[in-house]
Amino acid sequence: MSQSGKFIVIEGIEGAGKSSAIAVIERTFAQFNIDYIKTREPGGTPLAESLRSLVKSPDLEETLTPECELFLMYASRSQLIHNVIKPALTLGQWVIGDRHDLSSRAYQGGGRQMDDSVLESLANITLKGFKPDLTLYLDIDPKIGLQRAANRGELDRIEQEKIDFFYRVRDKYLSFANRDESILVIDAGQPMQDVHAQIEHRLRSYLQENR
Ligand code: TMP
Repeated sequence: MSQSGKFIVIEGIEGAGKSSAIAVIERTFAQFNIDYIKTREPGGTPLAESLRSLVKSPDLEETLTPECELFLMYASRSQLIHNVIKPALTLGQWVIGDRHDLSSRAYQGGGRQMDDSVLESLANITLKGFKPDLTLYLDIDPKIGLQRAANRGELDRIEQEKIDFFYRVRDKYLSFANRDESILVIDAGQPMQDVHAQIEHRLRSYLQENR
């Protein structure tokens, strides 16, 4: 029987450099001959991609309540875990996740200041104990991250939040990383080649022990 794959997640606020970090992970996986798929959240299935468009749209005709935003994130996650992530892991494929549950803890829990216990209940219903094997959190000062995101073009609904929102998001990320050793903090404020070297180094150590 083939061995189950691993679920590796990349997290961080806008402009932290998730996309290029994922490219580093892919390159490293190729060197280790790892068969993998990529997912993103919200999104990653046809239905979840529709929910992604909804939650990111800056042109909604009505205000999205924090609760509705939260439910849409978990609705999308439920589809993705059930229909894509778990089947791939069972087949022995590895999964690179562009965001996962930690984003809800940070954005809805920190940014929107929703109760941790509410998030915990939804996570219990949706994940049933499922969690990433490894999370790489790209930590950056929101002032720098948002500037980079703004340089990329039009901002989506969440990116249009005030800077304080993103400082709360960052605090939550760091507080979760502090108490969970499967979450590694990468200093994403350094020059890009140093950030990439850090990611590669941490990932290679993980692969040498877990492959
Ligand atoms: P991105 O993947 O392009 O960064 O866009 C996803 C946006 O959705 C980003 O602003 C973070 C936000 N988000 C949440 O607020 N909660 C979540 O649970 C997830 C997965 C994303």
